[in-house]
Formats: sequence, C-alpha cells, structure tokens
Amino acid sequence: MPSIKVAILGFGTVGEGVYRILQEKRDEIKKSTGFTVEVEIILVKDKNKKRMPIKGIQITDNFQDILNNPEIDIVFEAIVGEEPAYTYLSDTIEKGCHIITANKKMFAEHGPALMKHAEFRNVQIGYEATVAGGVPIIRTVTNLLSGDQVKRIQGILNGTSNFILTKMRKEGSSFKEALFEAQRKGFAEADPSDDVSGMDAFRKLMILSSLAFGEQPDWDEVPVVGIDHLPSNEITDAAKEDYRYRHVADIWLDEKGEPQGTVGPALIGANHPFFNIDGVDNAVIVETEYLGSLTVVGPGAGMYPTGSAMIADLIHIIRQQEAVLIPN
Ligand SMILES: NC(=O)c1ccc[n+]([C@@H]2O[C@H](COP(=O)([O-])OP(=O)(O)OC[C@H]3O[C@@H](n4cnc5c(N)ncnc54)[C@H](OP(=O)(O)O)[C@@H]3O)[C@@H](O)[C@H]2O)c1
Repeated sequence: MPSIKVAILGFGTVGEGVYRILQEKRDEIKKSTGFTVEVEIILVKDKNKKRMPIKGIQITDNFQDILNNPEIDIVFEAIVGEEPAYTYLSDTIEKGCHIITANKKMFAEHGPALMKHAEFRNVQIGYEATVAGGVPIIRTVTNLLSGDQVKRIQGILNGTSNFILTKMRKEGSSFKEALFEAQRKGFAEADPSDDVSGMDAFRKLMILSSLAFGEQPDWDEVPVVGIDHLPSNEITDAAKEDYRYRHVADIWLDEKGEPQGTVGPALIGANHPFFNIDGVDNAVIVETEYLGSLTVVGPGAGMYPTGSAMIADLIHIIRQQEAVLIPN
C-alpha cells in the first residue's frame, strides 16, 4: 500500500488537530489521494508533558531527528513564534520536503523568503491555516488569481477581537469583562496582546498582500489600531443607530499599483457583509476586476477548523505531486 510519511512540529491545539484528523479520516484521505498518510514523528518542546496517548509514533524534542529521517515527505509546522520555526522550515525545504504551516507570525515575516526557497527546491508550501483558520481564503484567492486580478481584500481576521466587540455590544460589557470571558472560553491566549492590539490581524493581512499583490506594503506605513482603547459606550451608542464596530484589516492597490493597508476598528452599516458576523467567526471580502465582490465566512481558529485547513493543504500537495512522491 503506497504511503506518505509526515512529521508534525508542535503538538498543541493545532498539531493535535492535524494528528486527530489524519487518524479519523485515514480511509477518506486514502480514497481521495490513493495514499495512506502515516505520522512518523512528532516534535515537541517538553517531552515530559502529559498528552493524549499516541501509540507507535516517535516523540522527540530534537529537530535533527526529523531532518535526519530519510522517510519524511511532508512536514506540518504548528509551533509558536518566528524562531526556531523559520530555521526548521528552511532546513526542511532544503532537504526537499514539502511544508504545511499554521504559524502566521513566522509566515508574515518569512513567507516570501520561504516561497522563493521552495520554488528553487521544487517543493510546495501550504499555508491556508495562517489566515482565518478554517476559512479557505488562501485557496480562494489563489484560484481567483488564475484568471482575474484582486483589487482589494477586507477581513475580520481576529476572532478574539470580534468576540469581544460582539459581547461589548450585546451585553454592554466592559473591554476587560469581555476579554476575561474570551480567555475563560479558551478563545483568547493567556497573553492576548497580539489579538487586541491588532498585530495578529496585521500579520494575516501581510500574508494576504503577498499572495494577492506579490508584495507587502512597508510595515511601518500601515496604521495598526487594536480594539483595546475603544470605549464601550461608543460601541453601544453606535448599535442604537444600527451601526456595529468591527475590527477590519484592509489592503488594496493604490493608483500607482502599490499595496496600501490599514488595520483598526471600523463602523459598519446594516448593508455591509460584516454587519452580521458575530462571535469568533472570521470573514473576508475579496474584490476582483471581473468577479466583483465575494465574501467567505467561517471559524477563524480552533483545533478542528485549523487542522482541517492543513489537511486540505496536504491533499492538495499530494494531488499536485502524485507523480513525484515516491511511495514508501
Ligand atoms: N490555536 C489556533 O486555533 C490557531 C489557529 C491558526 C493558527 N495557529 C497557529 O498555529 C501555531 C500553533 O498554535 P497552537 O494553538 O497549537 O499552540 P500551542 O497549543 O501553544 O502548541 C504549541 C506546540 O508547539 C510546541 N513548541 C513550542 N515551541 C517549540 C519549540 N521551540 N520546539 C519544538 N516544539 C515547540 C509546544 O510543545 P509542548 O507541547 O512541549 O509545549 C506545543 O506542542 C501557532 O503558530 C499559532 O499562531 C493557531
């Protein structure tokens, strides 16, 4: 039976989601690709941490074990932060393996360099999970680009901010109360500063800019405002006038054909596609030359939505590479 061997870097929310889906959908993946996908090795930081039971798979805290394993075809990356993730993925590409990442912080900064490196080494990169979790925005924009030109992308790209704004509007909660509730429900990180300051949405916007426009604006020139200074009475007053605050990341091409972006709270009227996007959902509007405007909505985070975006990347890579993936 032909099989593809994969490694998973990181076994937290996302890494575990990838592992679970690979086990639960083993037969479906085989039916759809013709390959059995085997998890060969998992990289973690702390081998002694208590985790779900995993049988017959090597758990390591040494990345060299993955790099030195000649059987690995594809590496999933779901660790946190720019380094060592960037170095690990550069080494993985150099070795000739395909990579699939969820790490938006790393990919916003180093995605362009990784893409060039991957092209040079003739391997593929899946990064659907870096933007809007389970919403298939990377695939959608990629498909649109084959016969059309993207002019603008607007997104609610941070589910935590949207949850907080929704709670402040609906229940009159203060920012602190709504943030506490987001943390209690597991939507916000223990350190939520990247979410509420707008930096998380900014990084996702930069990934979309690279994809849609082939370049990112100068990061210093993009105004980034979070939701952390928005008074709750402004949110409830706006709601009385049938307006809602959404945290919107916006990127477009100016008259010179250069990308310009903004990230911050915006007042949205009842006719706008973002008006009804409540809670932790994400939404993205893509405007193109020929299609006009298209809105995609869905869960922006979580074990299964994010894991399933990475599995969709896996299936895409297998189908594209079927001729060159040598069955083990
Ligand atoms: N959570 C989501 O819904 C979501 C959605 C989209 C994208 N993402 C992105 O996906 C990535 C993973 O997120 P997560 O929520 O799964 O994080 P998490 O639950 O904190 O898990 C992180 C995992 O990475 C491992 N790790 C951290 N640093 C490492 C290092 N230096 N070497 C080896 N392993 C290391 C940790 O090992 P230990 O288990 O030993 O601590 C842990 O297993 C992040 O980049 C995040 O931004 C997350």
